[in-house]
Amino acid sequence: MNTNRHPDQKPATAARIYDYLIGGTHNFPADRSAAEAVLQQAPVARPAARANRGFLGRSVRFAAEAGIRQFLDVGSGIPTERNVHECAQDVDPTSRVVYVDIDPVAVAEGLELLAANKHATSIRGDVRDPSAILRHRAVAELIDFSQPVAVIMCALLHFVQDDKVASAAVATFRAACVPGSYLILSHTTPPDIWVDETERAAVAESEQELRAVYARQTATPVRMRSHAAIEDFFGGYDLVDPGLDWVGKWRHVGEDEAEFAGDSRLAGILGGVGVLRAEGA
Ligand SMILES: C[S@@+](CC[C@H](N)C(=O)[O-])C[C@H]1O[C@@H](n2cnc3c(N)ncnc32)[C@H](O)[C@@H]1O
Repeated sequence: MNTNRHPDQKPATAARIYDYLIGGTHNFPADRSAAEAVLQQAPVARPAARANRGFLGRSVRFAAEAGIRQFLDVGSGIPTERNVHECAQDVDPTSRVVYVDIDPVAVAEGLELLAANKHATSIRGDVRDPSAILRHRAVAELIDFSQPVAVIMCALLHFVQDDKVASAAVATFRAACVPGSYLILSHTTPPDIWVDETERAAVAESEQELRAVYARQTATPVRMRSHAAIEDFFGGYDLVDPGLDWVGKWRHVGEDEAEFAGDSRLAGILGGVGVLRAEGA
C-alpha cells in the first residue's frame, strides 16, 4: 500500500490498528500510534491478534474441508496474507468469498488485493445493518443462500456496544442461511474470567486503558462480553468440538506456538464454530 497517498492526520481505525498488530503494512501513522498505545497498556494485544488470525485460518479451513464453498466475512479487516479467500481457495479454488467492512480504506485495499480473483470481492457494510449487507449486489452475485454459507464474524462484535443490536445482526444472518451453514465467531472477553485473583486488579486497569485508547482514537469503542454472552450468539447452531474456546487453543495442532507464545488463555479472545440446525431439530 502506498501510505503517501493518504494524509498523516487520517484518524486511526480498528481495521488498521489490527493490521499493524498482526504485522501488516496497511496502516497509517495514526493507526501505528494508537496501536503502540494499546501495546503499552496491554502487550498481550499483539499475540492475541495473531492468535485470533490463526483461529480464523483454521476455522475457515475446517469449514472448507467440511464442504463449505461460500464465505461472508463481516468485519473482515484488510484481507492480507493467509486470509479467508486463501484458506478457502486452497481447498477449492472456486470457493466464493465476500469481505465486508465498515472502514472504506480496508475495502479499497481489499479490492486492490483481490483484483485478479474473480471469486472474491470486498464491500463496505455495517454489521448493525445486516439487511443492507444481504441485499448488496456483490453478495447476491457471489453467494447463493439456497446453499450452505459460512458467516464469519471474527473479532467484530466487540465493536458493537448494544447487546440487542449485536444479537439481532447474528439472528438476521442466521435467518438468511440454510441448515448446514456455519457461523465462525470470535470475541474478546473481560479479564476477570481469565486471570487469577492476584493479577486481576492490574489487568483490569490495563484493560480499561486499552478500551480508552479505542474510545479516544477510533470511532469504534470496545465492548467485551462474557463466555455465556458470546455462547448465546450461537443459538440455533451446534458448536463443533471443542466448543467455544480460547482462539489460540481452538483446534491448534503441532508445535508451532508462534501465534501465542504464552498461556493461550491470556489472549483474552474466545472463538467457536457452529453448524446451523434444521428448524425444530
Ligand atoms: C479486529 S478487526 C478483525 C479482522 C478480521 N475479522 C480478523 O479476525 O482477523 C475488526 C474489524 O471490524 C471492523 N468493524 C468494526 N465495526 C464494524 C461494523 N459496525 N460493521 C462492519 N465492520 C466493522 C473494523 O473496521 C475492523 O476491520
